[in-house]
Amino acid sequence: MSARKVFEVLEQRGQKQRWLLAELRRRGYRVSESYLSQIKAGSKRPGRRFIEAVCAVLGLPEHELFETKGDTGTMAKKKSTKAAAAPALLRDARRSKGKINVAVIGVGNCASSLVQGRYFYQNAADDQFVPGLMHVNLGGYHVRDINFVAAIDIDANKVDRDLSEAIFTYPNNTFKFAEVPHLRVRVARGMTHDGLGKYLSQIIKKSKGGTEDIVRLLKETETHVVVNFLPVGSEEATKWYVEQVLAAGCGFINCIPVFIARDLYGYWPQRFRQAGLPLIGDDIKSQVGATIVHRVLTRLFRERGVRLDRTYQLNFGGNTDFLNMLERERLESKKISKTTAVTSQLDYQLPADDVHVGPSDYVPWLKDRKFCHIRMEGTTFGNVPLNVEVKLEVWDSPNSAGVVIDAIRCCKLALNNGVSGALFGPSSYFMKSPPKQFTDTEARELTERFISRYAKKEAKRKPRKKAAPKKK
Ligand SMILES: NC(=O)c1ccc[n+]([C@@H]2O[C@H](COP(=O)([O-])OP(=O)(O)OC[C@H]3O[C@@H](n4cnc5c(N)ncnc54)[C@H](O)[C@@H]3O)[C@@H](O)[C@H]2O)c1
Repeated sequence: MSARKVFEVLEQRGQKQRWLLAELRRRGYRVSESYLSQIKAGSKRPGRRFIEAVCAVLGLPEHELFETKGDTGTMAKKKSTKAAAAPALLRDARRSKGKINVAVIGVGNCASSLVQGRYFYQNAADDQFVPGLMHVNLGGYHVRDINFVAAIDIDANKVDRDLSEAIFTYPNNTFKFAEVPHLRVRVARGMTHDGLGKYLSQIIKKSKGGTEDIVRLLKETETHVVVNFLPVGSEEATKWYVEQVLAAGCGFINCIPVFIARDLYGYWPQRFRQAGLPLIGDDIKSQVGATIVHRVLTRLFRERGVRLDRTYQLNFGGNTDFLNMLERERLESKKISKTTAVTSQLDYQLPADDVHVGPSDYVPWLKDRKFCHIRMEGTTFGNVPLNVEVKLEVWDSPNSAGVVIDAIRCCKLALNNGVSGALFGPSSYFMKSPPKQFTDTEARELTERFISRYAKKEAKRKPRKKAAPKKK
């Protein structure tokens, strides 16, 4: 028996041996650094307790972490173990079709708008026009079918509070548009990792006490879908939570610019496929936000034959998202995500110096409002210049909450129907960085097709025609 694969997995995830040791200890399994080194060197055989503890920490079955003699790792072998690896909760999720049990990671402004939206529209009629939603009843799920069952944060102000209070707690500062009843959902203490950057750690005090057992929490609450709302730059923390989500057997919606669904090496989408679980990501696209306005105008230039020569998109706001983004080192994937969301609409390459898209500053009095300035310089017939200037003012978090409500319902439809891996249609419509980019019209069509294909049976059923009157 060799533990070579364990160390490969750690390396792929960018996690250190020391992290594994700490996690094992936290779970009550004491192991020394030299024991781990001997296992790594192959001079010691891993014991049964060690194997089980490592599988629990990394959320992977034994065959993916340890090699036995003659283990060739063939596809056939992998296939035969897939079904066995599908967590029991997934089967429960498929059975429980009435409600969607949702957990949120990060109880900030976005979580606040999402929870408020669920209660604001709980009595909407199925045929009502609700700004920001594709449908009040999406594939058989009404907005009120979303059932918050778990919430996770690390802020001392929020941990241990009921979710209905935590969403209105400092430093959250978004628009309050709905009263939320006591939800009996206690905010659990999560794992900090790189969640708090240089600026956030100046205003957020970490809750005392250790990380709760997140896999257990998700299983006990029978969570179907987990939504990630961590701060930008939370690479390690996101990957750690993804492992917990996979181990608990839930669908995952990644609203932040850490590449999980768009993982270029395909590692995370494959993990979701193997586990038989759906994934929508990455980086939520707002209803009408800077990205979509900039994308549509870029597309308009292209379709009307205007050559786009130079463009910028400058954003600033007064929420903790903008405060956190002052730390430029945390922005690498955010910048890629926002820039490619725009440049993907062109069929030629813009020189890097001629396109600038990104967050620019933090203005506290704007609170959760965000101002966006877009400038586009182009060339028309006869090499004559054409310029466009746009200023957009939005409340940042409510602007994406409706999109998340739709994403949650699509994720549950995928769970119900055993659709796994990164969902291309919904990801391309709801997210800035999907695994595959489409135009917004194509993305909407793909998502509508996804919904009608996987809608609950009763939603598909047409109303019965009235019987024709009998002839006399
Ligand atoms: N329209 C939008 O608002 C929009 C659009 C696209 C992407 N996003 C992204 O969504 C994410 C959430 O945005 P927000 O405005 O709610 O941010 P926020 O700063 O208000 O909330 C983040 C929350 O995460 C918590 N947190 C930090 N580290 C944690 C950890 N390790 N474990 C658990 N909780 C942790 C913080 O305490 C805070 O409550 C951001 O990454 C943002 O860029 C938002």
